[in-house]
Amino acid sequence: MEQAKILITGANGQLGRVLAKELRKKYGQANVLATDIRKPDFDNSPFEFLDITNKKRVIELIHDYKITQIYHLAAMLSANGEWDPKKTWDVNLNALLKLLSVSRDNGIERFFFPSTIAVFGSTTPKEHTQQHVPLMPETVYGMSKVTGELWCNYFFQRYNLDIRSLRYPGIIGYQSIPEGGTTDYAVEIFHAAIKGETYKCFLDKDTKLPMMYIFDAIRATIEIMEAPSDKISLRTSYNLAAMSFTPAEIYEEIKKHFPNFAIQYEPDFRQKIAESWSASIDDRLARSDWNWNHAYDLPKMVTEMITKLNV
Ligand code: SER
Repeated sequence: MEQAKILITGANGQLGRVLAKELRKKYGQANVLATDIRKPDFDNSPFEFLDITNKKRVIELIHDYKITQIYHLAAMLSANGEWDPKKTWDVNLNALLKLLSVSRDNGIERFFFPSTIAVFGSTTPKEHTQQHVPLMPETVYGMSKVTGELWCNYFFQRYNLDIRSLRYPGIIGYQSIPEGGTTDYAVEIFHAAIKGETYKCFLDKDTKLPMMYIFDAIRATIEIMEAPSDKISLRTSYNLAAMSFTPAEIYEEIKKHFPNFAIQYEPDFRQKIAESWSASIDDRLARSDWNWNHAYDLPKMVTEMITKLNV
């Protein structure tokens, strides 16, 4: 393969901004084009505006920048998605279909699609959720991601488009405050602790969810994209795991650093979404196929988050 030229959609988001930086370290600044619908509030150059529903603009950018790989991160998340289900479907699924066919028709060599624990639903076994389980998500976000996974597999089987995908757990990072997700509490809680404020948690104290530190998520993304094609036995999306905890457990861990930190539980509509997801994930296939291994557990992640946010 020649020098990869990468396009990232949603590159100002929680994952995109960190992924862009890591990919630029590896592939060179000029070879990683960040795109987003919003102007970056930090240096994310090279950058172009892109509304992913605009197929013509995607084609122009692929040609202008001689793009060979796409990391398609732009999406509306689980909680925000519920405010406008039709728009969420359009952004998350219809835009994906356009991008897949544009990729097929314009020589894209590798395509990354982020899936999520939101593909699981109340018919899915909750603990150690295996790779192949009943998927009946109850959010439009989850519905769009399950369907997206199937389309990715279809484009691989039928058109040989080299697609790789991960089902991310909730992602925790210090680089931004995420918006619109159900797992966002696990980032917000740090900002409250550092400011010395009581945290009002929108999930109940015993709601256990799978989570991952941002650098594990970014490393998994780059590792699956760099793995030889014959190591990727699954073209829907791989289960991916690092840790699972409840709001009460992360609170106790943060309290070790801030003994006076206080929390109140005020569950809202996101509680029902969280309850429909898995509590822990079996990701053995990712570990055996392309050697996935997480590096951060709860104490290590909490210590690093506090160190980074406290400077
Ligand atoms: N973190 C996402 C959300 O909460 C799940 O993929 O919506």
